[in-house]
Amino acid sequence: MLIARTVPELREFLGRYRRPAFVPTMGNLHEGHLALVQQARPLGDVTVASIFVNRLQFLPHEDFDTYPRTWDSDCEKLRSVGCDLLFAPDEHALYPEPQTCKVHPDPALANILEGHFRPAFFVGVCTVVMKLFACVQPRFALFGKKDYQQLMVIRHMVRQFALPIEIIGSETRRAEDGLALSSRNGYLSEAERAEAVQLSKALRAMADALRSGERDFAAIEARAMRSLDARGWKPDYMLLRRRADLQPPAPGQPLVALGAARLGMTRLIDNLEIDA
Ligand code: PAJ
Repeated sequence: MLIARTVPELREFLGRYRRPAFVPTMGNLHEGHLALVQQARPLGDVTVASIFVNRLQFLPHEDFDTYPRTWDSDCEKLRSVGCDLLFAPDEHALYPEPQTCKVHPDPALANILEGHFRPAFFVGVCTVVMKLFACVQPRFALFGKKDYQQLMVIRHMVRQFALPIEIIGSETRRAEDGLALSSRNGYLSEAERAEAVQLSKALRAMADALRSGERDFAAIEARAMRSLDARGWKPDYMLLRRRADLQPPAPGQPLVALGAARLGMTRLIDNLEIDA
């Protein structure tokens, strides 16, 4: 696996390829990330991953400084799944001057849910993803459904700017008990790790309620909030939304249940597509 630390190095390595398949990450890689790389391999003529902890998408009180950086094991994992090229710029290489030109995604999609609780988060995500796209110039880019709204915001950005990139969404990889894999799971104590599965269970309970014919969306959402609250979580939202645009649903539309909640100091998110 080649490692490019700067944009010129990356360009040099990529020079002879026409169809890169690209997986952007912030590192601390787990099976969810590696599944994206494996899915990318047969698509393009070269498989590229990036590791860059993007300061722009963290709020001042969030975990930018403590975000886990596990360089050696990340490289080993990427090699083991056949990644050809790793782009791992430092901040100066990607942002040599303050990044004052930013991408502002559609507020209707980006200022709700995660964007409501983490203002400017999707500006940071879109700005770095646009820049990484400009560096790698991929033909395919893969994102996890674990970050459902992020995937939708990026699809929308790519469509609106007519970028010649096919965005591929990949299923959420989970631990055996059902907890969605996440770099932030590493923050959990042993007791919290055992409790953490309750977020996906609460989403499943929302799906079960719909499947059993219940149609009072607000009541289903309120019950999910209460169930986590009663167990000591601090839920930000537990909502049923339309898959098409993440707006409140009308009956008969394909839905997704989305949740975000704090367990101790750790904020977890998860979601579940529902075939009612
Ligand atoms: P990061 O959290 O490292 O995630 C990188 C990619 O892995 C994202 O597309 C994310 O949705 C996907 N992913 C994470 N956990 C997953 C799981 N359990 N199953 C499947 N896919 C999973 O998301 C980011 O980084 C950043 O916002 C980034 C897009 C790199 C921009 O900085």
